[in-house]
Amino acid sequence: MLKLIIWTMAALIVITGIVAYSQWQWGGRGSGSETWSIRGGIAQLGRQPIVRHGCGACHVIGGIGRANGRVGPKLQGIHEQIYLAGVIPNTAENMVLWIMHPERVAPGTAMPDLDVLEQDARHIAAYLYKN
Ligand code: HEC
Repeated sequence: MLKLIIWTMAALIVITGIVAYSQWQWGGRGSGSETWSIRGGIAQLGRQPIVRHGCGACHVIGGIGRANGRVGPKLQGIHEQIYLAGVIPNTAENMVLWIMHPERVAPGTAMPDLDVLEQDARHIAAYLYKN
C-alpha cells in the first residue's frame, strides 16, 4: 500500500513537471513571444535602414531621433496592435510583407512602396516590435 502511494506521488510529480514545462515552452515566456520574433531579423540592425528609408518622415518611431512624422500612424507599441493598416493580421511575416510592399497589401494606401530589401525589412520589423 505504501509503495502504491509513493508511486502515485512520483507519477504526479512527473506529470506536473511535464505540464509546467510545456506551458513554459508554449506560452509562459511572455505569451506570444514567438509571434514577435522575426526570422532573420535583428532589432539592433533595424535602426539604420529605418533612417535610410526615411520612415520617420511619416511615422513616430520609438528610439529614432527625428522620427516624428504624422503622415501615418505612430509605430510605438505596434506589437500590441491586431491588424496592420487595418487589413492584414499583425504577424511577423505580414509585417515584413507590409514594409516591402504596402501597395500590394492595401491598394491605394498612402504609404508608398519604398523598395525595401527583404533583409532590411526583417531587421526593421524586429526593431519595430521591440519599440
Ligand atoms: C510617405 C509617408 C510614409 C513613409 C515614408 C512610410 N510610411 Fe508607413 N505608413 C504610412 C501611412 C499613411 C500608413 C497608414 C497606411 C494605411 O493604413 O493604409 C502607414 C502604415 C505603416 C504601418 C502600419 C501601421 C499600423 O498602425 O497599422 C507600418 C508598420 C509602417 N507604416 C511602417 C513603415 C516603415 C518601416 C517605413 C520605412 C521603411 C514606412 N512605414 C515609411 C506612411 C508612410
